[in-house]
Amino acid sequence: MLVILKRDNKEISREAAQLVASAVRKKPALTLGLATGGTMTGVYGHLAEFHKQGSLDFSQVVTFNLDEYLGLADRHPQSFHYFMHEHFFRHVNVDPRNIHIPDGTVRGNFVQYCAAYEDGIRKAGGIDLQILGIGRNGHIGFNEPTSSLGSRTRLKVLSQETIDDNAKFFAPGEESPRCAITMGIGTILEARKIILLATGAAKATAVAKSIEGPIASAVSASALQLHPEVTFIVDEQAASQLTQRDYYRRVLEMTALLTPERMS
Ligand code: GLP
Repeated sequence: MLVILKRDNKEISREAAQLVASAVRKKPALTLGLATGGTMTGVYGHLAEFHKQGSLDFSQVVTFNLDEYLGLADRHPQSFHYFMHEHFFRHVNVDPRNIHIPDGTVRGNFVQYCAAYEDGIRKAGGIDLQILGIGRNGHIGFNEPTSSLGSRTRLKVLSQETIDDNAKFFAPGEESPRCAITMGIGTILEARKIILLATGAAKATAVAKSIEGPIASAVSASALQLHPEVTFIVDEQAASQLTQRDYYRRVLEMTALLTPERMS
């Protein structure tokens, strides 16, 4: 596990965008796992800028998003479809046929729908690089606390904490979603490489538990300790409860020196 400590959201976004860009340049037909949330907007902004400057081509990239709210159509301004279109897809040249986001309007056989989403990932050769944010309660995607560490894409009931966190984005009186379709923790762990970004004091406890705590279903992101190629990129505030910050800095220096390929 690599822990990259940065000053603020700006630095984190730049670092993450550079990692994604270098992965796409190395493998133009990269299968990229994407995330939503405020933490991601800067990353998508940089990637869009690289594309505009002509230095990054997404024409062969295949994308799979982590999750979507159940009950929201893709036109709904709080849907993750809308978020992805606004912040990323309308600015770059990902082929629309290569974009996959769980359908929030699916009805009936959720098990079959989710199995088909997983099948799509498999047929695309598996996810090469998965980007993640983290919820205040340690969730990744919408894998709320106590999600099975082996879980697959499925319908998930949102925790009260997540519902409360999201309520502010919905119009007054509008009920915010209670459920979502999300890749499972088992699905996420199959990605070849994972980058998790966290900024701000509200994430400090979740970050410390994920990196330094025991692996537990109570903190979904702690399952990432099982993954051999995971990089946490964390700002000062989100890193404030980590006890081994000096060690992470030394590891990073030595990694850059001895195995620079691990850094890109
Ligand atoms: C939602 C998403 C997560 C994301 C989290 C954090 O819950 N399902 O994938 O990591 O929000 O969002 P933010 O970056 O806005 O804090």
